[in-house]
Amino acid sequence: MLEIKNLHASIAETGLEILRGLDLTVQDGEVAAIMGPNGAGKSTLSYIIAGREDYQVTQGDIFYNGRSVLAMDAAERAALGIFLAFQYPMEIPGVATMEFLKVAMNAQRKARGEAELKVPEFIKIVREATAGLEMDMAMLKRPLNVGFSGGEKKRAEILQMALLQPKLCVLDETDSGLDIDALKIVADGVNALRAKTRSFLVITHYQRLLDYIVPDRVHVLYKGRIIKSGDKNLALQLEQNGYADIIGAAE
Ligand SMILES: Nc1ncnc2c1ncn2[C@@H]1O[C@H](COP(=O)(O)OP(=O)(O)O)[C@@H](O)[C@H]1O
Ligand SMILES: [Mg+2]
Repeated sequence: MLEIKNLHASIAETGLEILRGLDLTVQDGEVAAIMGPNGAGKSTLSYIIAGREDYQVTQGDIFYNGRSVLAMDAAERAALGIFLAFQYPMEIPGVATMEFLKVAMNAQRKARGEAELKVPEFIKIVREATAGLEMDMAMLKRPLNVGFSGGEKKRAEILQMALLQPKLCVLDETDSGLDIDALKIVADGVNALRAKTRSFLVITHYQRLLDYIVPDRVHVLYKGRIIKSGDKNLALQLEQNGYADIIGAAE
């Protein structure tokens, strides 16, 4: 599904290198957790996979189903099924959430050569998805993320994911700002989407989320590189001992 080879990437404006030779493979159907201390480059990695333009890849490549995505813009990548749930979801004043969802879904359908959804059909799909996430449909009349609580923003991100049915889902610290009940609901939403043909990159600082979204692989990111990989037990080990041991061994 995803193969990242020797990726070096810098902030376009300043040239500051953030990713420094990152290698990562995610198989079809796999849930891979990326863990790492603050400032390791986790969000940067998510932005670069999604195609955000403020970063420059200076070396290496990102292959999605065997194709390099580096020359594609964010919209092309999204149309191919790459989805990013942001750590800090953007507020979009003036655009009702419902309208945003409709435009996003229809853009993807168009890219796939499918007809636009009729309004009743669209509303039915959204109603089902919001029920699963215990979201109130009334919230969707409000502008996207404006005045949403931390938990509501994260649910709105998972709702978008459930509606767009992407193939590669990158979740950046979806657990931040969630209380335990919201965390469970969001994790259930993610787990419901697990499939042999869909992969997840679950980025998190803490092990807690991984009690609910159980990963197949765990990778530790530090100073822009993956310094250790293992199974879900690696996350438990990090929870107990912190990052210091692993960082010490890698340096
Ligand atoms: N636009 C930017 N300008 C300057 N520094 C940045 C920018 N974006 C990220 N960084 C720096 O890059 C490093 C990695 O950041 P980030 O990817 O957000 O880490 P993480 O998500 O793991 O906490 C940090 O040291 C951060 O300060
Ligand atoms: Mg981050």
